Amino acid sequence: MGEIKEDIKEILLSKRKIKKKVKKLGKQISDEYRGKNPVFVSILKGSVIFLSDLLRELKIECSVDFMAVSSYNEKTESSGVVKLIMDLRESIEGRHVLLVEDIVDTGLTAGYLRDVIRMRNPESVEICTLLSKPAARELHIECRYTGFEIPDEYVVGYGLDYSEKYRNIPYIATLKSEVYRR
Ligand code: PRP
Repeated sequence: MGEIKEDIKEILLSKRKIKKKVKKLGKQISDEYRGKNPVFVSILKGSVIFLSDLLRELKIECSVDFMAVSSYNEKTESSGVVKLIMDLRESIEGRHVLLVEDIVDTGLTAGYLRDVIRMRNPESVEICTLLSKPAARELHIECRYTGFEIPDEYVVGYGLDYSEKYRNIPYIATLKSEVYRR
């Protein structure tokens, strides 16, 4: 097996660009949530790298929790079926919740989780996503914070995978077409 970078077609967002954007989002969130002690709900697994960088840019008191969903799919397209497979550890009643996603694609995952959270009487729920693909949207969803809008292409890196690989590359990229034929 060769090196990961041999599978990369094009770098869409460099390490430097992502870092700058995450810093900006961290500042904005710190300004808007000061004194509100928000809880960051990270959706496993894709969002963990974004979450960990974002947390270190926050200047405010906050907490973190995790949820996981399964979309029954290992391919490059969402199946449209979402199931909660791991729930939060803490109660979110009366809390300001920020759902942290790596990508909002069809919007089905974020929409489902936002509804699950809303049913638990939080003070507020907003979505913070690093990437958004407006052209792929099936469900209209408001994202309070969006890092980058990208074209409707399959991307990997910075937490995003293809068949569980490539999460560890520090930038966002597309893959060569032969990778999908292996
Ligand atoms: C990805 C991503 C979002 C979801 C977005 O997760 O992390 O949760 O898909 O797609 P949607 O807007 O079409 O619902 P994935 O199912 O690939 O799981 P992972 O985060 O564990 O890689």
